[in-house]
Amino acid sequence: MEVFFLFLILKVLLLFWVTPLRVRHRLQKNGFGGPSPRFPLGNIEEMKKKQEGVTPLEFADSIISHDIHSNVFPYFARWQKAHGKVFVYWLGTEPFLYVADPEFLKRMSTGVLGKSWGKPNVFKHDRQPMFGKGLVMVEGDEWVRHRHVITPAFSPANLKVMADLMMEPATKMLDKWTLMVNSGNPEIDFEREITTTAGEIIARTSFGLSNQNGREVFEKLRDMQITLFNSNRYVGVPFSKFMSPKQTLKAKKLGEEIDELLLSIISARKESILSGSPPQRDLLGLLLEGSLSDGRKGKSLTTKELVDECKTFFFGGHETTALALTWTLLLLALHPDWQEQLREEIQEVVGDKTLDYPMLSALRKMGWVMNEALRLYSPAPNAQRQAREDIRVDDLVIPNGTNMWIDVVAMHHDPALWGEDVNEFRPERFKDDINGGCKHKMGFLPFGFGGRMCVGRNLTTMEYKVVLTLILTRFSFSLSPAYRHSPSILLSLRPRHGLPLIIHPL
Ligand code: HEM
Repeated sequence: MEVFFLFLILKVLLLFWVTPLRVRHRLQKNGFGGPSPRFPLGNIEEMKKKQEGVTPLEFADSIISHDIHSNVFPYFARWQKAHGKVFVYWLGTEPFLYVADPEFLKRMSTGVLGKSWGKPNVFKHDRQPMFGKGLVMVEGDEWVRHRHVITPAFSPANLKVMADLMMEPATKMLDKWTLMVNSGNPEIDFEREITTTAGEIIARTSFGLSNQNGREVFEKLRDMQITLFNSNRYVGVPFSKFMSPKQTLKAKKLGEEIDELLLSIISARKESILSGSPPQRDLLGLLLEGSLSDGRKGKSLTTKELVDECKTFFFGGHETTALALTWTLLLLALHPDWQEQLREEIQEVVGDKTLDYPMLSALRKMGWVMNEALRLYSPAPNAQRQAREDIRVDDLVIPNGTNMWIDVVAMHHDPALWGEDVNEFRPERFKDDINGGCKHKMGFLPFGFGGRMCVGRNLTTMEYKVVLTLILTRFSFSLSPAYRHSPSILLSLRPRHGLPLIIHPL
């Protein structure tokens, strides 16, 4: 027994102390500097500390600043000053290579296949209940197979049909607003409203919400998300997964219930297709159609894999889209001239007709506004990778196993890349350039980069344009005096106190 405990202690020390020390030594030898870590928390204490020297974002005369980097990532902003745009920091005993230099990113990713990158193992435990083994999580040849099966479902031809699935929940939300205004309450919390509507839209476009099971999955998915957010986690710290056992258990239980409901939806769908009924034109319907018509191994997904993809679309797709719209409404509330410009464009493109898919690509100015909102307030504030082999960047080596944290907020707010007007809302910078005039083509990364770039970006653009067109046609809006500008990171970049808006029917 004693020998066993000794062995266990040695193993733990080796795993959590000796190995990280060795990795640190190797990284230092390769020239990567960074703040000194302390065992066992690494640099977490410093990251959790209240920060000094943070730029204020609100001024007395209601002027709001978009210069948010040192506010949302104060520790990275400070470490950047001392260690430059590429350095190593530690989450517990896990080393992270911080990258805010697009040229380094380009050299690091050139020649490394999408399938050779992993996603940090330390985050997997937390994300397992949400994504299972869906596309966000899988690696290597498994990722190639999933991506290969899923990509065609997001083709423009397939997305076309989904515009209709989006209209109804969005219209329902706007009808509710009209009722609120008529009953004397013109103030709405847009973030809350749009997150619910976007959840309903993604559930409809992913697996259908037409029956009770679909609605139940939706309710439970939202419940799980709240549960996971509420747990205060110490990612990377040895044994941290045991720190919030109640939430972990609740998330696990909800996960099992969701899986069961989705399994029953998928089985019913399969039976209905096999009995000759036309498949539903949502993402699940398209994936099932592909799987059943091309059932060879390697070209289809199993039922369990389909369950995980439905969850992945829900968690990967609704909040990010809701936040893109939320930040856009903040920016448009601050710039009523742009609300007007977009309304004129909608009048020219849509006029008195019903909005349809081909019209969306003609809404060009709306596309610039979307890009500018994603630049200033990127809902996904970072991209992550983990090296699954030694990666050479010129004469440096990033050792196998090193995690990477690409600071998208830093790059999107870097005056060296965008010029002195970097923190101004200027959608026209995207008029003739899909990179918005950024000096480096890897400096604008709202949807990530390389082979693992967001698979849902066309769907999200469509939803953004449908919902924004409907809002702008029926309402104008201004910022409520109750709004407090405090962008903060809770997985995504969100307004800490919501987005209260005063709405005016047109
Ligand atoms: C404004 C909205 C959205 C933003 C900002 C966004 C952002 C991102 C980012 C940054 C990544 C990681 C890319 C990387 O690591 O290089 C990603 C991946 C992914 N996104 Fe999105 N996303 C959005 C909407 C959606 C939607 C609507 C869906 C699905 C319905 C979706 C599904 C996915 C999936 C499945 C992946 C994993 C791709 C892979 O690893 O191969 N996303 N997204």
